[in-house]
Amino acid sequence: EQFWAIVPAAGTGSRMQTDKPKQYLLLQQQTVLMHTLNRLLSHPQISGLVIAIAKDDPWWSSLEIPADWPLLIAEGGQQRSDSVLNALDRLADEQVGDPWVLVHDAARPCLRHADIDHMIHSLATDEVGGILAMPITDTVKRATMDGRVAETVPREALWRAATPQMFRLQQLRQALSQAIAAGINVTDEASAMEYLGYQPKLIAGHADNIKITLPQDLPLAELFLQQQGG
Ligand code: C5P
Repeated sequence: EQFWAIVPAAGTGSRMQTDKPKQYLLLQQQTVLMHTLNRLLSHPQISGLVIAIAKDDPWWSSLEIPADWPLLIAEGGQQRSDSVLNALDRLADEQVGDPWVLVHDAARPCLRHADIDHMIHSLATDEVGGILAMPITDTVKRATMDGRVAETVPREALWRAATPQMFRLQQLRQALSQAIAAGINVTDEASAMEYLGYQPKLIAGHADNIKITLPQDLPLAELFLQQQGG
């Protein structure tokens, strides 16, 4: 089996309140993006990686990417899903057949190899694929339009979706293009697969695989990297 990593890194990070997109902020003297790429490319089962970079991105070229990294570059799109689809199309051009793809947010630099291993093992004989996710621990409320509690939602069946999200290249391309064409709000790969009627498997991941979104997430990610010793 072949496994490729797909990294959408073409976001603007509007919620970060910084000029630079979050994937270019520093964690332990290294960009968030370099941490993420390192985590994926140092995994022994990952053959290569396709990254989606925004067309007008002025920061990418100043990263010191080792010349021997198996890295392909695609152009970012309007939405995350467009960026992922561009990257998948780029991979399909390589005539690699129909490998598994692990789509992983550039903004999740604390991904552990143990979670990648767990995912690959859990899905080894799976027909669909699946996602790393965490069971919800808080009590969950549904809000009214004016910000009051409408009801308490039973949390037993609720999970927070993370990445990687692992699917077959060709199935995921088809799912994303159809869901995008139908105007579905595709905020992760699983949503596109669900649109076609598939039920991706939920694989319990570690909670330190956070997505850097808000300014306060940076010191937290730094702490997690330190604890992980990497
Ligand atoms: O904005 P959000 O946190 O959902 O972004 C998740 C990931 O998708 C980030 O790594 C971001 O760079 C990427 N992205 C992208 N193309 C876009 C929007 C977001 O590659 N148009």
